[in-house]
Parts: sequence; structure tokens; C-alpha cells
Amino acid sequence: MKVITTVAEMKELRSQLAGSVGLVPTMGYLHGGHLELVRRARMENLTAVVSIFVNPTQFGPSDDFDTYPRDTERDLALLEKERVGVVFMPSAQEMYPEGFSSWVDVEKITERLEGKLRPGHFRGVTTVVAKLFNIVQPDRVYFGQKDAQQLAVIKKMVSDLNMNLEIVTVPTVREPDGLALSSRNTHLSTRERSAAVILWEALYHAQELWGKGERSAQRLRQEMTALIASEPLAEIDYVSVADPETLEELEEIDRPALVSLAVRIGKTRLIDNTTLGE
Ligand code: PAJ
Repeated sequence: MKVITTVAEMKELRSQLAGSVGLVPTMGYLHGGHLELVRRARMENLTAVVSIFVNPTQFGPSDDFDTYPRDTERDLALLEKERVGVVFMPSAQEMYPEGFSSWVDVEKITERLEGKLRPGHFRGVTTVVAKLFNIVQPDRVYFGQKDAQQLAVIKKMVSDLNMNLEIVTVPTVREPDGLALSSRNTHLSTRERSAAVILWEALYHAQELWGKGERSAQRLRQEMTALIASEPLAEIDYVSVADPETLEELEEIDRPALVSLAVRIGKTRLIDNTTLGE
């Protein structure tokens, strides 16, 4: 496994790689969700490249950049075990040298949900992802359904800017009780960890209602909100039933819908989602 820390070395190595390259962008502190992306990239390409970079530009002033969990040694051991070919882990200085001043900004869908609560977040995501695409020049890129809005934003960027690569979506990996794996779960206390299952319970409830024929998006939002409110440690940021591409809130669920949630459990902010009718 080659571990590369500079853009120049990564570009040089890429120019020597024959066959298809699959890229898995991550911020590290790897868990089973990340590893599922890595396995897909390994399976479907001659070379898998995993990037580890806690991207400062996608964190707002009140976000958790400083406390975001990091453990490079453990990450490298996990990737070695998965027989990954290349790990790209640049420094912030390497990605954003003095005087950096170009940004990729996807409009409209970034103004909703996560984008509304975290201004500038997606501008940081799309900029770093576009840079990683340019540096690694992958044939395929792997993203988790867990971050559904991020996925929708990246799909829009790739389509609008005619980027020449295939986006592979990987389903959300969950704990046995339904909690979506996330690097941030590590911040949960035992009590909070038990409370966090409320996100999956709310999504499951929405699926059940939809399965029984409920088609009012408002009814689903109300039912999920009431269920989450029954958990004293949970505080809702949003509960959404929206079009999966435009992220516009639906009234009538007359087409596939993305049900997504952001809930704070103590100081930890968790997001999750499910789709209806796909
Ligand atoms: P990070 O949160 O580390 O996630 C990296 C990738 O793993 C994302 O595509 C995310 O959707 C996926 N992922 C996370 N949890 C998952 C789960 N439980 N099941 C399946 N996939 C999961 O997302 C980012 O990093 C950053 O924004 C990044 C794209 C790297 C840009 O900095």
C-alpha cells in the first residue's frame, strides 16, 4: 500500500497507473460504512485510491472541526487489511496553499436541509471533491447514501461541469439496531447511544406508514416529529420528505421520495435518511 501526502506525488503515481481507478473520498476515522465503499472500489477497479482528509473548508465556525475524530494509524491498518493500493492523505497546506481562491459552488439544492443549517458547507465539499477528482482522475467514485444531500450535490456538480467519471452509490451500513454507522457516533455516551436509535425508528415508521398507503408528506413529517420528540435527549434540526434530486419538500408522495432527518443527541448532530418508492 502506497501512502502519499503530496499532490505532485499523487499526480505522478496516477500517470503510471494502467487500468481503472476507483476513488473513495473520506475524512478518516474509518468504520464499516467507509469500508463497504472501499470494498466496492476494490472489486470494481484495478486500483482503489482512498483519500483521508479532514477538509477544513466544509466546517463552519460553530462546527466540530477541532473535535472531529482522527486516528491515522488505525485507518492505515484497516486499509492495509482491505488490500487498498493507494492512500492519499494530504495536509491542509497542500490542498489549500497560501492564496487559494477558487471555489466550486452548486446553487439551489445546497440552500436546503444541511446547506440551510450549515452555510458554506457544500461549497467546501464540492471544492475539495472537485480537487480530489482532478488530482486522482478516477474512472469511478464511491459515495454513501448515508449523506444523501451530499450525493445529490455531487451528482449535480459532475453533470453540470461535464466531469468524466461514474458515481457509484453505496447503501447505508447500519448497526444491528438500525443506527447508521458514523464517525461521529464515537462522541455518544452510553445513554445517548441508546437514544440515537430514534432516528432509525422514525425512518422505519415513515416506511411503514407509506407501506400502508399514506401519501401525505405532511402526515409523515408530523408522525416522525412526534416520535422523535418522545425521546428526551433528541432535538430535531429538520424532518424532510422531499424530491430526491431537487430536494424540494413534497406535499403528495406521488413519486419516489427522500425522507431525511438531522437530529441532535446531546452535543452530537446525526443525520440519516431512507427512500420511499424506489
Ligand atoms: P466522511 O463523512 O468520512 O464519509 C466518507 C464517505 O463514506 C461518504 O461518501 C459517506 O456517505 C460514506 N459513509 C459514511 N457513513 C456511511 C455508512 N454508514 N454507510 C455507507 N456509507 C457511509 O462525506 C465525507 O466524509 C466528506 O464530506 C467528503 C466527501 C470526504 C469530502 O470531504
